[in-house]
Amino acid sequence: MVSAMEKLRFCVLAFSLLGFYVIAREEYMSAIGDPGMRRDSLRVAIEAWNQCNEVGEEVFGMGSPRMADCFDVDNSTSQVKLIHMVDERDNKLGISDGSYGGINASNVDVYAANKEIYLGDKCQVQDDPRPWQFWMIMVKSGNMDTLAATCPQNGKKSTPFPPEPGFPCFGLGCMNMPLIFHNYTSLQGDNDSNLKGSFYGTWDLNDDHVSKAAVSNGTSYFNITWEKEIGKGSWVFHHFLKTSSNYPWLMLYLRSDATEGFSGGYHYETRGMSKIVPKSPDFRVKFRLEVKQGGGPNSQFYLMDIGGCWKNNGRPCDREVTTDVTRYSEMIINPETNSWCKPESLKLCPPYHFFSNGTKIHRTDKENYPYDAYHLWCAPGNAEHVEEPYILCDPYSNPQAQEILQILPHPVWGEYGYPTRKGDGWIGDPRNWELDVGRLSQALYFYQVHSLVFLRSWPLVWDAAKLGIAYYFIGVFHVMQDPGTKPVERHWTSIDLGTEIYISSDQVAEWIVSDFDIVVPKLRMIHE
Ligand SMILES: *[C@@H]1O[C@H](CO)[C@@H](O)[C@H](O)[C@H]1NC(C)=O
Ligand SMILES: *[C@@H]1O[C@H](CO)[C@@H](O)[C@H](O)[C@H]1NC(C)=O
Ligand SMILES: *[C@@H]1O[C@H](CO)[C@@H](O)[C@H](O)[C@H]1NC(C)=O
Ligand SMILES: *[C@@H]1O[C@H](CO)[C@@H](O)[C@H](O)[C@H]1NC(C)=O
Ligand SMILES: *[C@@H]1O[C@H](CO)[C@@H](O)[C@H](O)[C@H]1NC(C)=O
Ligand SMILES: *[C@@H]1O[C@H](CO)[C@@H](O)[C@H](O)[C@H]1NC(C)=O
Ligand SMILES: *[C@@H]1O[C@H](CO)[C@@H](O)[C@H](O)[C@H]1NC(C)=O
Repeated sequence: MVSAMEKLRFCVLAFSLLGFYVIAREEYMSAIGDPGMRRDSLRVAIEAWNQCNEVGEEVFGMGSPRMADCFDVDNSTSQVKLIHMVDERDNKLGISDGSYGGINASNVDVYAANKEIYLGDKCQVQDDPRPWQFWMIMVKSGNMDTLAATCPQNGKKSTPFPPEPGFPCFGLGCMNMPLIFHNYTSLQGDNDSNLKGSFYGTWDLNDDHVSKAAVSNGTSYFNITWEKEIGKGSWVFHHFLKTSSNYPWLMLYLRSDATEGFSGGYHYETRGMSKIVPKSPDFRVKFRLEVKQGGGPNSQFYLMDIGGCWKNNGRPCDREVTTDVTRYSEMIINPETNSWCKPESLKLCPPYHFFSNGTKIHRTDKENYPYDAYHLWCAPGNAEHVEEPYILCDPYSNPQAQEILQILPHPVWGEYGYPTRKGDGWIGDPRNWELDVGRLSQALYFYQVHSLVFLRSWPLVWDAAKLGIAYYFIGVFHVMQDPGTKPVERHWTSIDLGTEIYISSDQVAEWIVSDFDIVVPKLRMIHE
């Protein structure tokens, strides 16, 4: 093992010396269709999910819960015009429209997935290395009717069970899709120099005046407004989310999803913004975030949420939901969120913490393990060799089993550009973030990974651009995994931010996102 490591170390050294001058010029590129949200001609879509990331039932008159707002700005004449690509007929399409538009589906879940592809075709922008379609806004309610048993359990058919406090449901129909309304993007302002549009809605179906739902007590509500000055700056996405006693567990994210394949948490082909799917350890995510209202003590505000999918044997997911596992990691910045991983509650700690110098610390090492850096870890429901003690993740909230690793602001994350102190980036502290998500996500524990070779090639690229000193290192880690399986490449098909307000009524979260980008080294393109 030592000799293999030495050899690798030598290779990297040789490579980095050779590569230095080449890299210095063209060091990185954007992985997404609209780097920094600067393109006037916007592509944005919205999707609604129930607890198990499906539709279940369409809302009467609303169609399937997939909609898009995609347009080009025509400035060829003095009168600027917007050319919309998706009209009301498209956005209102639902299962009752039969095969209109070539969308075929035998049930509403498949229909929504196919409608997303239909909308994606309308919005698609040709680009290199492949076309892209839209930003995806996701709204989800965590209500679950345990008696109806509509959500599979770790990908297998479930059986009804009595209501539990962990699964809110006010009664029959509690898993409904929201009403979603749409203000198409239009030219506004004194000189028609501003672009503005929005999606908004409520889960309270009997509320025929959505504007009332926005302000009254006891009703759920969300809106997302996007705004931009033509030819200048970034799009600015303003988000609101309000929970109610009937809908106390709600999520609202802005996502950059893969443009093809299966995005995190989903078992159908999806459309998105990430024309290159970022891969650990070489990518960074940049954005500006201003949190205006936090959403209460149970608001798990995700500064960064990454989602991917691979099986416990290291193979990529293939829609076989009993063996696929969605993997999530999230940095929660709500300072009211505490560490549940503690020396006296080891089951909520990932078995190992990895320092970037290659040192790994077992969770029983009370002296050195950074317990406060973790909110919780839970293991996939279909894992067979998990180290005791552990808890399994919610078996119902994805079409397949899932693994979740939630981290909190802590000095150990500082070297990746992540917040180090509670309150960093929170209300009153708007920031431009540049997160080394790639290197951080490579260092995180996920069940089944083994012998991770840890190359620090990115800082070389980065520092070269800044004419700083290049440095790098290698570490090799051994982690528990299903025996006889290969280590996995970590691809992140969904990169998003937003909040999940967990079971608490009448809470309001409000935040603003702009300047979003994901960058990858150009070298990666040469390697592939
Ligand atoms: C029209 O828009 C394009 C793309 O944004 C821009 O490059 C060009 O300068 C604009 N032309 C005018 C006349 O504003
Ligand atoms: C949808 O149905 C039509 C007519 O039955 C068929 O021609 C078409 O191939 C189907 N499309 C897909 C994507 O299955
Ligand atoms: C609108 O255009 C006029 C004339 O070009 C200019 O004087 C004015 O400042 C513009 N107003 C805004 C709000 O951009
Ligand atoms: C939608 O447009 C209407 C009319 O311009 C406006 O009053 C309302 O505030 C807009 N709603 C949202 C959520 O943008
Ligand atoms: C969005 O909802 C919030 C909260 O109800 C409200 O204050 C805000 O005016 C709404 N935005 C728009 C554009 O309507
Ligand atoms: C509105 O909500 C607040 C906070 O939950 C509560 O204190 C208040 O009593 C509610 N008001 C009404 C009229 O329901
Ligand atoms: C690795 O980093 C950790 C945390 O900074 C430190 O405690 C440890 O001593 C380092 N190990 C080595 C071998 O440098």
